[in-house]
Amino acid sequence: MGAEVDYEREIQELKRTLNAVILAHYYQESEIQDVADFVGDSLALAQAAAKTKADVIVFCGVHFMAETAKILNPGKLVLLPDLKAGCSLSDRCPPAAFRAFKEKHPDHFVVSYVNSSAAVKAMSDVICTSSNAVKIVNQVPKDRRILFAPDQHLGRYVMKQTGRDMVLWPGSCIVHEIFSEKRLVQLKVQHPEAEVVAHPECEEAVLRHADYIGSTKGLLDHVLKSPKREFIVVTEAGILHQMKRGAPEKTFIPAPPDNGCSCNECPYMRLNTMEKLYRCMKDKTPELTLPTDLQAAALAPLQRMLEWSQ
Ligand code: 13P
Ligand code: SF4
Repeated sequence: MGAEVDYEREIQELKRTLNAVILAHYYQESEIQDVADFVGDSLALAQAAAKTKADVIVFCGVHFMAETAKILNPGKLVLLPDLKAGCSLSDRCPPAAFRAFKEKHPDHFVVSYVNSSAAVKAMSDVICTSSNAVKIVNQVPKDRRILFAPDQHLGRYVMKQTGRDMVLWPGSCIVHEIFSEKRLVQLKVQHPEAEVVAHPECEEAVLRHADYIGSTKGLLDHVLKSPKREFIVVTEAGILHQMKRGAPEKTFIPAPPDNGCSCNECPYMRLNTMEKLYRCMKDKTPELTLPTDLQAAALAPLQRMLEWSQ
């Protein structure tokens, strides 16, 4: 059937018949962001999932985000257009290895980035996202040593912001670790008036050139309210859609990676397409499922994050 289907119209119709809500991350392709009921960063999406009244949550993002929605809504049907939409950070922190790492650091308070599996979350004391990591770490009792996983770059950034020493799991994101400092500096020379905004998953060498560091939502809010007219954006290029929509008069330049491409896309996020979104709603599959005990174990640290974020 392919090309003749009006995916946008069919998806809108399926939303009504299923009483579904479509939650999408900023790294999704533009058409998916436009058909979604809510577009946000990991924290805003978790908060939206926690309070939705819909019967079905269609999650246009990656696996750990849909898992979070399921953990917060154990009784609801959670659909993910492509179950293979994983995350390199989550994949680089296998639960068995994480358990061993944790055992090497007994008595540490475990703060896990939301970009981790439900099994790693279940072994954590509290979860954080890029938008609340500083706030969360600041609330860890001062007499506790901290283990932070799985993103070392976010961890290092948080250590600087909070002054807390943390043991870091050596993980990183394949998208954010390949931004090129050299090409960024060249771009800054070509655009001396541009403000540089960067995601904290980038390496320290790249972050030190940033005028503003924040989550995807933080970056979006910042460029919309900044008096500057030009921005170099150091994160996945999907965010440019909302930036251009919110401020069509401003110029947004995606920062280049060191692989010769002009911008950076997350291969996992981009597995979701309008066709897969339509099919998953029509067939009510693939469904995101989790063992009940794991769901229950991962809920407490996630709830603690939501409480500590207020
Ligand atoms: P945000 O929570 O900032 O949207 O980040 C999610 C993510 O996966 C970044 O790579
Ligand atoms: Fe994971 Fe990186 Fe993709 Fe974000 S951009 S979902 S951290 S692989």
